[in-house]
Amino acid sequence: MILIIHRISAVIAMACIALFFSSTIIVELIGAAESIVIVKSLIVWPGLFILVPSIALTGGSGFVLSKSRNGKLVERKKKRMPFVGVNGIVVLVPCAIVLDRWASAGSFDTQFYMVQCLELFAGAINLMLMGMNMKDGLRMSGRLGSSPIISR
Ligand code: HEM
Repeated sequence: MILIIHRISAVIAMACIALFFSSTIIVELIGAAESIVIVKSLIVWPGLFILVPSIALTGGSGFVLSKSRNGKLVERKKKRMPFVGVNGIVVLVPCAIVLDRWASAGSFDTQFYMVQCLELFAGAINLMLMGMNMKDGLRMSGRLGSSPIISR
């Protein structure tokens, strides 16, 4: 059961960040101001209300699963998770809220694009860390190349 929760929450969290990231880039490159306002608003609601609990659930279920595991793969996953969480709470959430406010007020100035760059950078870092955790998780469960016995 915990493994199923871990799998589902991990996929939802990664999909959210990938979706926020790609939709932001697409809409800001080719979209009208109204479309940017809509995307920025959807990222906050319902976006963050899906992303934040799914990151917490992924980390929580991962730590429960890791009680019966040791080895370098699980240790690496444990070390990465605080960065994913802190990056999400300290950078991604405030950036998303501020960008939504500024976009709905129509202020697409230098400040907006600086915060937007920061948000994209933090999103890319989180995607990379989560991707590495996913790869190590799949290795641990023997779904990616190496045997689960060797990688435990
Ligand atoms: C965003 C972060 C994370 C992602 C994307 C992620 C992803 C995954 C994936 C895809 C699997 C394979 C599940 C399967 O067999 O289908 C997995 C397994 C696992 N994960 Fe994570 N994980 C994350 C965080 C963590 C954390 C923080 C821990 C705790 C240290 C953890 C511990 C485990 C363990 C122990 C397994 C192996 C379960 C088993 O086969 O018995 N994960 N993870």
